[in-house]
Amino acid sequence: MKHISELLFLEEVDSTNDYLKMVPLKHGLCVVANSQTRGKGRRGKSWISLKGKGLYMSILFGKPENTDCLKLLSIASATAVVRVLRRFKSGFYLKWPNDVYINGKKVAGILPEILRDRVVLGIGINLYHSPQDLSNLDQPATSLLIENVSIGRKSLINLLLRSLDVYFDLLINGEFDVKEYEFFCPVKDKEIVVSSAKGSFEGKCLGIDRDGCLIVDTGTSIKRLISSDVSIRVKDV
Ligand code: BTN
Repeated sequence: MKHISELLFLEEVDSTNDYLKMVPLKHGLCVVANSQTRGKGRRGKSWISLKGKGLYMSILFGKPENTDCLKLLSIASATAVVRVLRRFKSGFYLKWPNDVYINGKKVAGILPEILRDRVVLGIGINLYHSPQDLSNLDQPATSLLIENVSIGRKSLINLLLRSLDVYFDLLINGEFDVKEYEFFCPVKDKEIVVSSAKGSFEGKCLGIDRDGCLIVDTGTSIKRLISSDVSIRVKDV
């Protein structure tokens, strides 16, 4: 592998993302924890991190020379993850920007954090949760076990690291193709509801642009959404 250089297992940590913010910068260091006491999700939410039930993993990268490519980090890493999961079941797909879904339920999430000197990419995958474990979440969620996908944690980590290594390389070489992401994220031409801290609105999704932004036609204007600010839901028809 070109970028991922070291794998460290921890029994318990507050958050694997926060851990990698504190350590001396080492490009390609990956940390996997058996449990997190303060697992973080996107947009200030928490991430359920029960002991031994999920994959809680973060990778540390040094900032690339041209930081422009980092605006695609979120969707490139989502593509890397969904490609691995689809080797086991074709039903996995992406919800913009980087949630992995199957059968209308979320199974994995990605939390990229771009700091002054480093990039931390956190990945959480529900592996062995029962429906009961996931019943108190604010959105429908599932696990690989519930979806009858059987893959050992070690093999999964291996496949993910290889895939992420490839996509990180594509990204820094300016070779990541948003079209590939769009293939796994079926949102184009759908009516969607967009929610942000400022409120919500509806519109038709026109697609994803070269910067990974979602283009939405509200009927009165065309909006370009940046992934860190909003979440979307495809409207039931
Ligand atoms: C999301 O909200 O969808 C993103 C979830 C990201 C969770 C992972 S688990 C490993 C890493 N450490 C964290 O605290 N969060 C990420």
